[in-house]
Amino acid sequence: MSSAITVRGLRKSYGEQTVLDGIDLSVPEGTIFSLLGPNGAGKTTTVQILSTLIDADDGTVQVAGHDVATERTAVRGAIGVTGQFSAVDELLTGRENLLLMADLHHLPRAEGRRLADELLARFDLVEAAGRTAATYSGGMTRRLDLAMTLVGAPRIIFLDEPTTGLDPRSRRSMWQIIRSLVDDDGVTVFLTTQYLEEADELADRIAVLDHGRIVAEGTAAELKRLVPGGHIRLRFADAIALDRAVAVLDSAQIVGEEFTLAVPSDGGVAALRAILDRLDLHDLEPSGLAVHTPNLDDVFLTLTGHATDSKETVR
Ligand SMILES: Nc1ncnc2c1ncn2[C@@H]1O[C@H](COP(=O)(O)OP(=O)(O)OP(=O)(O)O)[C@@H](O)[C@H]1O
Ligand SMILES: [Mg+2]
Repeated sequence: MSSAITVRGLRKSYGEQTVLDGIDLSVPEGTIFSLLGPNGAGKTTTVQILSTLIDADDGTVQVAGHDVATERTAVRGAIGVTGQFSAVDELLTGRENLLLMADLHHLPRAEGRRLADELLARFDLVEAAGRTAATYSGGMTRRLDLAMTLVGAPRIIFLDEPTTGLDPRSRRSMWQIIRSLVDDDGVTVFLTTQYLEEADELADRIAVLDHGRIVAEGTAAELKRLVPGGHIRLRFADAIALDRAVAVLDSAQIVGEEFTLAVPSDGGVAALRAILDRLDLHDLEPSGLAVHTPNLDDVFLTLTGHATDSKETVR
């Protein structure tokens, strides 16, 4: 598989502040790559450099086989960018926003109208198509914004925090749309997020960015394995069952709650099944269970020694 994006030794400073401190990345074609980091980590700055909007101070960036510093136009022809802040014109209707994009891409009038209708349908905006975007909800605006990005039929799409501020349902529908871009259209997606859950759901690979450095890179499962604190809690009917369970499960610990024990685990299905199988072998069945998987805060705390919300603290 060839590389859609390759970044080597990327650096960027604003005055005294080092925003990106030597970043290396590689994103294979047709995959979803997620740059995960808290406020101020440097996510938007990275997207801006990779999409030719600002210049790097040092390092090399190849996007779609072209150098962002020397082949700007070729890069721009291959990519689409949905920024952190909407490019939607609120005074125009949804359809007019799309037609405007079609004009900017010099599509013939009829082709532009056909594409606008297709995108409105795909993004569930048919009913709202004739209303001004000012009347749209946050989720609708986000969908329109992404639809506008697709007008240029980009091979590589940058999405900067596509679901921040959306409710769980809108977030899910955005995830479906993003997945379909890769599965159905074969595009490559580079997305930034503050949510491990989102990276977990979508990304083939995740890089964790903190204070301008990549502090970890891997699949969601690999990242979670770096993090202690994941465990499965099992509740039993009585003290006898509890004691027997402790005896048969490795590293199980009785916790405060009644007849409950905790087994360290990555919280995955395979681990859960192994535990239940082992209990079953000894004729034990828990009366209840809960899976605790590490969240972004756990990952950050482990990898960086500080919580996600402490970004403004000086290094
Ligand atoms: N044009 C600029 N001039 C000066 N400083 C900047 C500029 N752009 C970004 N920064 C600084 O660079 C750092 C990283 O900003 P960036 O926007 O890349 O973070 P982010 O990870 O996208 O954060 P968020 O999650 O809040 O969007 C911040 O401390 C920010 O203040
Ligand atoms: Mg940002």
